[in-house]
Amino acid sequence: MAATIHEQELKSALIGLPLPGVHFYKQTDSTNERALQLAASYSAEFTLVFAEKQSAGRGRLGRKWLSSAGSSLTFSLILIPSDKEQEQLSMFSFLGALSVCRAIKTVSNLEAQVKWPNDVLLNRKKTAGVLAETSWQGQRLSALVLGIGINLLPESVPPDDQAMFPATCIQSHCALPLQRLAFLRAVIAALIDLRKGILEPAFMQEYRSRLAFLGEWVFLTSQSGEVTRGKLTGVDDHWQLLVEVQGGRQMQFPCGDLHLRPLSIQ
Ligand code: ATP
Ligand code: BTN
Repeated sequence: MAATIHEQELKSALIGLPLPGVHFYKQTDSTNERALQLAASYSAEFTLVFAEKQSAGRGRLGRKWLSSAGSSLTFSLILIPSDKEQEQLSMFSFLGALSVCRAIKTVSNLEAQVKWPNDVLLNRKKTAGVLAETSWQGQRLSALVLGIGINLLPESVPPDDQAMFPATCIQSHCALPLQRLAFLRAVIAALIDLRKGILEPAFMQEYRSRLAFLGEWVFLTSQSGEVTRGKLTGVDDHWQLLVEVQGGRQMQFPCGDLHLRPLSIQ
């Protein structure tokens, strides 16, 4: 039986990390929703909103994120992007995904990959997702909310018919028993560290080194249903996905609502 986390345990587990506020919910609709509401009146970088259970966890465009109390991790961090960072807000989703990859490496020594733009994969299956949403005051961006959902223990993995991409959890790939709070701490510590260098070439380099399906044939489906088929060749300096289509032509795809699938998974 998976153990639930209590507020005091959460706060104790995060002692020493520079978090200006830790907001704990036994149950809420969505930690992104709570964090956005918080950010509307007060924003401090690295404010954490954590929920043991979400009733309306979401992905992009209103899609659902499924989680399970006691075995998933669902939380959001408020970040305050600088003017320069605001020119490329999509970097923050990559930040979330890379932080989970680093934590996986630290805690279990496994090498996770990123399905562009921001799904974390283990053995080609999705084990975490990231949703970045923004809070505005008039024309001015006041905060960015980075929501992260992680399948840690087996109970967190949704049934096949409820996930559009094969899903897994971290525990299924490592022998040592994983502790949810220790893992949460590892993700947040990685995020704080990576955040410092988000504009540096090394950050992009680390992202590129974890890109899934590199050199493989993939399908990209746009929201309108348009399908592009080609070989995934990388990510350019503007964070666009590069796909070589028939005839050798290179196409660039900015981070948007695109479904990426390797040819082996349709
Ligand atoms: P895609 O899977 O098409 O690439 P995406 O990665 O951008 O899309 P979202 O569109 O943000 O993901 O939506 C979340 C999707 O993740 C849902 O549609 C569902 O298929 C899947 N999903 C939901 N909960 C989980 C989970 N716990 N683990 C793995 N996948 C999940
Ligand atoms: C994705 O599937 O790619 C994005 C999923 C993001 C889920 C997390 S769980 C914590 C936070 N609250 C939400 O409602 N969504 C994000």
